[in-house]
Amino acid sequence: MNCRNTNDRYGSLSIGMHWLMLLLLTGVYAVINLHDLVPKGSTLRADLKTWHFMLGLSVFILVAVRLATRLFSGPVPRIEPELPAWQERLSALAHLALYVFMIGMPVLGWFAVSAKGDPVVFLGRQLPTLIGHDKSLYESLKDIHETIGTVGYFLIGLHAAAALFHHYVMRDNTLRRMLPARH
Ligand code: HEM
Ligand code: HEM
Repeated sequence: MNCRNTNDRYGSLSIGMHWLMLLLLTGVYAVINLHDLVPKGSTLRADLKTWHFMLGLSVFILVAVRLATRLFSGPVPRIEPELPAWQERLSALAHLALYVFMIGMPVLGWFAVSAKGDPVVFLGRQLPTLIGHDKSLYESLKDIHETIGTVGYFLIGLHAAAALFHHYVMRDNTLRRMLPARH
């Protein structure tokens, strides 16, 4: 098991972080959608929202670890057969957008809850509020957060579809590079 990237595969840390993030984001989306189905004012609804905040903040913390991992893992493993330059650029742009999403969404959420004047609790500790109470700012931040949340479905969906297209149609090693080695 290689922690750092090799010629033909991402390092185990990068692979682990990548799939853990998928799991976390699935949780983030699942609990906030479940929250919408539960009657207003119930404790379950409040708990689901708290879980949304907690899981979302975990994405924020882990993305920092992930960026550090990326920085210290060495050159990205090559795709074979090699991709045309425009596809390389498109995939770099998509990865950048995914990172902006993973950082921006939790920050927007934290700002929104601060503007609402509600506490943001992480692992039983109350986090500092980022801005003062402002109801109309809360509404705007919440709207932006929700819109980007919807964009996220498409972004992640297209990213996953591209990976499957490379694997099953183009039959290159794009996806295999992000899967653990089988011995
Ligand atoms: C990667 C991280 C996150 C993603 C992908 C995400 C995604 C979403 C989505 C899709 C919704 C809207 C659901 C709907 O349309 O009904 C939502 C709502 C919301 N999120 Fe997040 N979120 C993230 C992190 C956070 C964090 C860290 C916080 C706060 C600390 C937060 C606070 C909120 C709030 C206050 C709402 C509105 C809930 C309501 O309807 O009252 N989010 N989020
Ligand atoms: C079923 C879902 C997913 C599949 C099949 C998938 C597949 C892949 C594959 C094959 C790569 C390597 C591509 C390359 O090196 O050119 C990759 C890289 C990447 N993926 Fe995903 N992915 C999925 C979900 C996600 C999610 C949910 C995120 C985050 C929101 C994400 C973020 C990234 C990023 C940022 C990279 C660039 C490499 C890195 O910095 O780790 N992926 N993904």
